[in-house]
Amino acid sequence: MRPRFAAVIAAVMLTTLTANAQDKRPADASSATEPADFPGVGEIMALQQMRHIKLWFAGHAGNWRLADYEIGELKEGFDDVTKLLGGDIVDSHVGAPIAALEKAIDVKDRAGFDTAFDKLSAGCNACHHTLDHGFIAIHRPTWLPYSDQSFTPPK
Ligand code: HEC
Repeated sequence: MRPRFAAVIAAVMLTTLTANAQDKRPADASSATEPADFPGVGEIMALQQMRHIKLWFAGHAGNWRLADYEIGELKEGFDDVTKLLGGDIVDSHVGAPIAALEKAIDVKDRAGFDTAFDKLSAGCNACHHTLDHGFIAIHRPTWLPYSDQSFTPPK
């Protein structure tokens, strides 16, 4: 982890320590050796990237049940990020677009889905920028790397 990023994280954690009193893990340095520190934010993000891609192709295949599943997985991943970082940094960046995506998926609104998806990607990037990772830039995927999974809705 880069020193400047570590400082940002430390600052975020400090300001949210009291809000996380229910968190079982101690916040002192000894927690660094606990398995609970793995996966870290970087590992969760690799999964979020996969779900972000699958979400797009599920929506565009009209597979709304799969899209609904992927948005649920994205939310779980972000819940884990919130447990690691504390505060409302996740919610303030991607909370609204996720809610908009859920709504679009619910009513099978393709145009609404696209708009909300772009807002989600913008939220991903805004958070990367906030946490000194602005060089990680997310946008609409152009290619589906998962050839072993069918994205068309089952009959
Ligand atoms: C809480 C703010 C935050 C949000 C919201 C967020 N990210 Fe991240 N993301 C990070 C941070 C911090 C890192 C760097 C983590 C590290 O390396 O320890 C990161 C890293 C990544 C990486 C690099 C992972 C790798 O191993 O190459 C990808 C890809 C990524 N994020 C995708 C996304 C996507 C897609 C979204 C939105 C669906 C998203 N992120 C939303 C904070 C965020």
